Amino acid sequence: MSDIEKIESETLQRIAAAGDIAALEDVRVASLGKKGVISERMKELGKMSPEERKAAGAALNLLKDKIAAAIDAKKQRLEDAELDRRLATEKVDVTLPVAPSPKGRIHPVTQVSEEIVAIFSAMGFDVAEGPDIEDDFHNFTALNFPPDHPAREMHDTFFFRPRADGSRMLLRTHTSPVQIRAMMTKKPPIRIIIPGRTFRCDSDQTHTPMFHQVEGLVIDRETHMGHLKGTLEAFCKAFFEVDSVRTRFRPHFFPFTEPSAEMDIGYERVGNEIRIGQGEAWMEILGSGMVHTNVLRNCGLDPDEYQGFAFGMGIDRLAMLKYGIPDLRDFFAADARWLEHYGFDPLDIPNLATGLSR
Ligand code: PHE
Repeated sequence: MSDIEKIESETLQRIAAAGDIAALEDVRVASLGKKGVISERMKELGKMSPEERKAAGAALNLLKDKIAAAIDAKKQRLEDAELDRRLATEKVDVTLPVAPSPKGRIHPVTQVSEEIVAIFSAMGFDVAEGPDIEDDFHNFTALNFPPDHPAREMHDTFFFRPRADGSRMLLRTHTSPVQIRAMMTKKPPIRIIIPGRTFRCDSDQTHTPMFHQVEGLVIDRETHMGHLKGTLEAFCKAFFEVDSVRTRFRPHFFPFTEPSAEMDIGYERVGNEIRIGQGEAWMEILGSGMVHTNVLRNCGLDPDEYQGFAFGMGIDRLAMLKYGIPDLRDFFAADARWLEHYGFDPLDIPNLATGLSR
């Protein structure tokens, strides 16, 4: 075998053996590079006689072209193989189930509203809603607030400008006007809860001008305080996720219920933490009572035939208590860091079967 043939067969073998682009590049440098075997041979041409140079030059050029072509072909094959490998490993199987990684958090007010709805739904209550902008009749008069009664002022009402006839619309100060709307349109038995926004001109650590309430209303033929108390105790146990709660009813006054009571819940403060259901301290969480006979009459119901109970509680306050959130004003400050800390996972939907909260 001539010298040239030997270089050719050795180089072609090394090209065939190159397993990746880097190895192939080594072969190229070793043969065609500045100091490669073929280049070195080219340099020797200068020392040859013209005839020798002609023959050797032609043979070397032929060799050079062959090797260059072999390297190019091999390079293409390696690149194709690399592409196939990537296509195989990077493919996405769209039939696989998603790994949930939700962005965003559920606000504690939404979370607690949904928890409350889940609990009362399981007891057979429907959800009802009413408008934020109310008239005097639904917010006060039908609820047995006498005209010019100080209770109207007690609520620090936001009024709109008077209309031509002198009447003023207002931002509802409680969810109780929806009781009136329900009793005037539905036939008893009525069992509803009414979550919604409410408004009073007030602002400090536990009051904001806009806040949330949930109202409950039950109207039936034989309804009494025992039903009210049992319902609220069952609610407290479910909501605070404890086996036993201590509660107490304190006599109170609301124009639209008689008798009326506020309910307190027993708690204990351990360091910074509030433990619900034990201890000697009491915290007020809701107002309640038997629907006043005047209210029933205002809605066209005969008090000798129907009685009912109602209750109303602050959703924001319940959220503060359950989840240890110190300042109510932060609820509505729209601070993303606060929401990241106190918010809830959008995929954990509150329900009684798997637990209200995690
Ligand atoms: N509406 C009352 C309030 O906002 C709460 C309440 C509702 C009391 C229903 C009794 C019955 O303070």
